[in-house]
Amino acid sequence: MSTVWEAAEWEAPDAERLVSAEHTEDDLEIDRNLRPRRLPDYLGQTRVKENLGVLIEAACARDETLDHILLSGPPGLGKTTLAGVVANELGVKMKTTSGPAIERAGDLAAILTNLEERDVLFIDEIHRLNRAVEEVLYPAMEDYCLDIIIGKGPSARSLRLDLPRFTLIGATTRTGLLTGPLRDRFGMAFRLDYYTPGELADIVRRSAAILDVPVTDDGTDEIARRSRGTPRLANRLLKRVRDYAQVRHDGQITEDIAAEALAFFEVDHRGLDKMDLSILETLVCKFAGRPVGLNTLAAAVSEEPDTLEDVYEPYLLQLGFIARTPKGRQATPRAFEHLGIAPVAGIPGQDGLF
Ligand SMILES: Nc1ncnc2c1ncn2[C@@H]1O[C@H](COP(=O)(O)OP(=O)(O)OP(=O)(O)O)[C@@H](O)[C@H]1O
Ligand SMILES: [Mg+2]
Repeated sequence: MSTVWEAAEWEAPDAERLVSAEHTEDDLEIDRNLRPRRLPDYLGQTRVKENLGVLIEAACARDETLDHILLSGPPGLGKTTLAGVVANELGVKMKTTSGPAIERAGDLAAILTNLEERDVLFIDEIHRLNRAVEEVLYPAMEDYCLDIIIGKGPSARSLRLDLPRFTLIGATTRTGLLTGPLRDRFGMAFRLDYYTPGELADIVRRSAAILDVPVTDDGTDEIARRSRGTPRLANRLLKRVRDYAQVRHDGQITEDIAAEALAFFEVDHRGLDKMDLSILETLVCKFAGRPVGLNTLAAAVSEEPDTLEDVYEPYLLQLGFIARTPKGRQATPRAFEHLGIAPVAGIPGQDGLF
């Protein structure tokens, strides 16, 4: 028997954090349908796109292999997507793997020897490659060859194996964790930045057209504003708002319906959710705008310090709602304003210094 959902009993799915920029199972369908395949469909990141466009055209015109590329930036900004776009524009195949998946040097050797001339090898989370594997990658990137040691002890011999000329595209959320020698071997490095609301609106519009979701321009802008500068989130919010509009209204997404749906999912008008607000409220109310150490703050909001630092803090910093001071995390006047609370007088940092 199938379940029929009545509007009244329909509740917000509360699986993982809706505004998390991390990849979730839920995103797989979105990825399949909405991931841009060619450069013109890849919206925003104008400078990166222009640079890549020129390099790809030059490589194709000279019949050469494209230089190795390092892509960095926060989760969900389109690193994997861009790697696929580059492969498509070059007209070659892309093999995908990730740093943690390549456990031994032999695993990487197997991947490399299976590549075809000009192929793109995409290594996600490249900062998590182990040392032994990295050592194999160096000559592969530099000279397109593989050094193999046969035998052990004094009779061991080294053998050089030629590899097809390939393009390595590495992606990382943390450039700082890449070793110097690895970073130096990339011909080009591009950093993806958070998208502007205008760029996100273009992405929502494109996705709505593909998914056949009726949405007004104002509705598009409302979703874009709450997407934390992140395309993955823009698509996810569009999907959730579509569900809400279908169940509670007639399916059309207007500004009011988008706002109502996102309030229902507890995403506020700047894209903050309950946890973000709890962090801000703790800094603003409990600690009255004074600097607070990471561990103290984490304990106050019942969260792990690492999660606080990696998942919640980047967007709050980007919005200028919190500041990292030598004495700890501190709410800025903007945070007070966002919560509708008057800044506390006499506390350093709360008098417009930010
Ligand atoms: N420039 C863009 N234009 C349109 N859609 C985009 C763009 N960038 C990303 N997207 C959409 O956002 C989704 C997430 O992008 P992607 O998986 O490439 O991010 P990522 O940077 O690789 O994230 P992670 O660091 O978690 O691996 C994609 O499925 C795609 O639909
Ligand atoms: Mg990715």
